[in-house]
Amino acid sequence: MQETKIRRPEFKTPTPGPKARAFIERDHAVTSPSYIKEYPLVVERGEGSWIYDVDGNSYLDFMAGIAVASTGHAHPKVVKAIQDSAAKFLHICGTDFYYETMIGLCEKLSKAVPAMGESKVFLTNSGTEAIEGAIKLARYHTRRSKIIAFKGAFHGRTMGAITLNASKATQKAHFGPLLPDVYHLPYSNPYRCAYSHEKSWCETNCVCANKIEEELFTSQFAPDEVAAIFVEPIQGEGGYIMPALKFLKDLRAVCDKYKIMLVFDEVQSGIGRTGKMFAAETLGVTPDVILTAKGIASGMPIGAIIAKTSVMTWGRGSHGSTYGGNPVCCAAALATISIIEEKMPEIRSVGEFMMTELKKLQKKHSSIGDLRGVALMIGCEFIKKDGSPATEYVSKLEQLAFTKGLLLLSCGKSTIRFAPPLIITEDEVKVGLEILDQCLSELGPA
Ligand SMILES: Cc1ncc(COP(=O)(O)O)c(C=O)c1O
Repeated sequence: MQETKIRRPEFKTPTPGPKARAFIERDHAVTSPSYIKEYPLVVERGEGSWIYDVDGNSYLDFMAGIAVASTGHAHPKVVKAIQDSAAKFLHICGTDFYYETMIGLCEKLSKAVPAMGESKVFLTNSGTEAIEGAIKLARYHTRRSKIIAFKGAFHGRTMGAITLNASKATQKAHFGPLLPDVYHLPYSNPYRCAYSHEKSWCETNCVCANKIEEELFTSQFAPDEVAAIFVEPIQGEGGYIMPALKFLKDLRAVCDKYKIMLVFDEVQSGIGRTGKMFAAETLGVTPDVILTAKGIASGMPIGAIIAKTSVMTWGRGSHGSTYGGNPVCCAAALATISIIEEKMPEIRSVGEFMMTELKKLQKKHSSIGDLRGVALMIGCEFIKKDGSPATEYVSKLEQLAFTKGLLLLSCGKSTIRFAPPLIITEDEVKVGLEILDQCLSELGPA
């Protein structure tokens, strides 16, 4: 029997190679200095879980362009859907006219979380626009102004979204005045409790972040002034943090009690990443509104506000968008969702495999602290000997892994987010984790 050759990263030049260096020089001369650019990867093309740079080097992708390339790079079915749609028409404006792909996508998304019951959908161009729209919807529907968000949250880069953010001060610095009436509370983090509670206490009784009634409603303002609670059911940028389940259930209970809208920002956790279409289902807590973007169309710019019909009450003309729900993006989203639906059992099993293998590495390398997550949304925290976050170590790890052909991306203070394309195979996970193992051995303890 012929053995199939396991594919590994291949290098034709050291990284970055001469062509990459030339592009980077051109880029630095003309692009906004606000861009981050994690490491000198200059992409020429992608295929499945693999990326090729302009010098012909290949890399295994464990970050999917920040959890976006859900069906892998250039999935043939998604590319075909885009080509077919583009050949028909590029634009007509879904706010004003009708077309089948937009209707089909909204039908699909409105039924994505059956527990939400009858739902309606507004299509955006991005995650941050979904946040902005949901802030407007919450205020419109409730006729209330205040919004509660959480420390460590990331919701995007527009004015409303940055007001809700509380993960990095640079995202807000010098952009004020921001939106009024936004309040932040600690997020539930069983591993690093904001109130320094013992881990075991938190896991069983965690109300660390559900201080809403105590901290806000008794001393600062009345609950009937609050329009919405915006929360990531699993925090992304803040460190791939799985909250205690009780935290999300408590939020649901507070919202029910005071008729506050519960909005799940699933821009990062949605579209199969947690092994179900949305984390709301994985975690068994049903919000009033789900926001999605990123992985929904494999990289084409589209997002969505999915809201219970009972809360999507804004009237004709109160919200709209020229490009939101562009026909080509809708076609890409429909193709993406059907691929992900088919792959769902594998997403769960490959995710379990990845977690099991990471736990083995955790035993071997003292630099690995907490491991958390579900399916292919896994956070691996790196710590110093005293248990504090190993921030610089994680930057070194990202750079070293890149030179060995593994694309990683950090989040939070010292966490690597494992958010590969959802079509990644066990063999590819094995190859990536072998490279990670080598890197950690080379770096030694943090
Ligand atoms: C949870 C979450 N919400 C919102 C956003 C913003 O999405 P976009 O960059 O598409 O505006 C992001 C982006 O990283 C995100 O992770």
